[in-house]
Amino acid sequence: MSTDHPGSREDDESRLGTDLDLLVIGSGVAGLSAAVRAADTHAMRVGVLTKGDLEQTATRWAQGGVAAVLAADPDSTDLHLADTLAAGAGLCDIDAVRVLVDEGPERVNALIALGAMFDRDEQGHLELAREGGHSLARIVHAGGTATGAEIERALVAAVKRTATVIHERAFALDLVVSGGRCRGVRSMNADGTVVEVGARNVLLATGGAGQLFAVTTNPIESTGDGIAMALRSGIAVADTEFVQFHPTALHHPRAPRPLLSEALRGHGALLRDVNGERFVDELLPRDEVSRAMTRRMLDLEVEHCLLDATGLEHFAQRFPTLAHDLAELNIDPTVDLLPIAPAAHYLCGGVLTDLDGCASLDGLWAAGEAACSGVHGANRLASNSLLEGMVFGFRVVESIERGKTTAEPSGAMKALIASAAAEDSLGMPVIGGRRVDAWRPPAPVAVAKSTAPGDARDDLSSLQQAMTAGAGVLRSAESLAETAELVAALRAGRDRVLTNPEAELVNLLDTASALLAAATARQESRGAHTRFDFPDTEPSFRCRLILQG
Ligand code: FAD
Ligand code: SIN
Repeated sequence: MSTDHPGSREDDESRLGTDLDLLVIGSGVAGLSAAVRAADTHAMRVGVLTKGDLEQTATRWAQGGVAAVLAADPDSTDLHLADTLAAGAGLCDIDAVRVLVDEGPERVNALIALGAMFDRDEQGHLELAREGGHSLARIVHAGGTATGAEIERALVAAVKRTATVIHERAFALDLVVSGGRCRGVRSMNADGTVVEVGARNVLLATGGAGQLFAVTTNPIESTGDGIAMALRSGIAVADTEFVQFHPTALHHPRAPRPLLSEALRGHGALLRDVNGERFVDELLPRDEVSRAMTRRMLDLEVEHCLLDATGLEHFAQRFPTLAHDLAELNIDPTVDLLPIAPAAHYLCGGVLTDLDGCASLDGLWAAGEAACSGVHGANRLASNSLLEGMVFGFRVVESIERGKTTAEPSGAMKALIASAAAEDSLGMPVIGGRRVDAWRPPAPVAVAKSTAPGDARDDLSSLQQAMTAGAGVLRSAESLAETAELVAALRAGRDRVLTNPEAELVNLLDTASALLAAATARQESRGAHTRFDFPDTEPSFRCRLILQG
């Protein structure tokens, strides 16, 4: 018998207990920060469910570091706030950014107390680096540009000591919703069996969706699963049109593209076109640099620009992992100019949350790249993502501990439930929300024992190529419409999945449809969203575009 429940497998669905206080989906910085806090400090019964091994995350790949004000004068949280707001192009929620910059230093110190080792100078002070959009050096890092690996190492060790249960290689398919509340997830085990994992609270910490694009820095796990699950359950999602393209991904056939950290430019590396000419200030926010590079590449009819790190002293000592990775590709950065092109790197939007990470369904929370907390607005400031995961993962747990279950009109959630006349702490009108009416919620997906139509790998490749061509750094109504048509065709008939790759493909298609609908509706250019046909920023679009079925 086939059933039509989202995520239920024909014949063999079974149930696990419902005695968890918190079920965390995803084992990156956001999920594990929450899990460790909940289990260690509050003795909650915590489950962590993740689709690969614990370490398989984008977090582990993070290079440049964590932005936080850990040094005294002349830096200040006010400056960090101002830099974040400037990068966010008018769409950051100021209260969320205030939380991020004020609570960030304490969260970094908590991570250090947990055992994370950041790079220090000879006097034992934390070494601070500078990246684009930051007015000062304030990025802490580990192993040069191996920051994410060190954070993940420390968090994985802690969660193994503290969590009640860890499900690795378990794929969350859909949310279990009943009585107006999230009560768990349906999940597929490695052997194909489907189980229901119940919990009083569920945290979506499933990361981003860089795999939407053929050219990306993101690992294969970044397939928008949590966002797609939310979309299929009628939960509000926002800001999906704002995909950040990192300017300095190595232009190389390897997929994902090897990232050349922004820290290189912070140390003085220069951007040049293929004729060797400089054309942009290297330390502008990423959206501006990626746009300038893309325009230069179009003008010169070439596929890449160049990063000139030949003037950097002690390259191998300061950036040992990059030096190693480049050597493997027979590239010597002290001599060679490095071919680079923008690559999809970060999704600024996601599941809409309030200041505590609470989503628009009771018992459901979101943190990290899967969330839209309002801290990034239309373009994330470099190295604010790891920080966001730590800060908001922590706040989710503190809120659960206080007994909170329902979202409030705070942070980005103001766009959904605040009164239109409300003001933020700067006295500015709150950023309102506009539903994207043209978007249709995705069809439910069930697990079946028959194969879905078409090979998932071929369809994935078609999707990625189309998204890179039609929804990349520069977009137009025409390019978005063509891409949306393909996405709809690829999704048609895919209402049954058999394997993880099939489920990931459906999640990517559902996330793509939200992204394309919002990008089409946003008839302006702002932050990471640039339209050929609407090149100006329009004050009437100072709002969040909300997708909710
Ligand atoms: P992730 O770390 O992506 O973890 C998501 C987790 O969810 C994974 O465990 C995944 O397996 C799991 N998951 C997903 N779907 C499912 C499912 N259906 N079922 C079960 N589990 C699921 N940011 C910075 O601030 N500083 C940097 O220096 C930096 N450098 C970066 C370098 C690179 C190359 C990349 C790709 C990103 C970088 N970023 C950086 C961005 C940052 O790493 C990520 O935004 C951040 O780590 C996201 O953390 P997260 O916890 O939200 O998600
Ligand atoms: C980098 O090291 O350039 C990545 C930093 C980030 O994504 O914030």
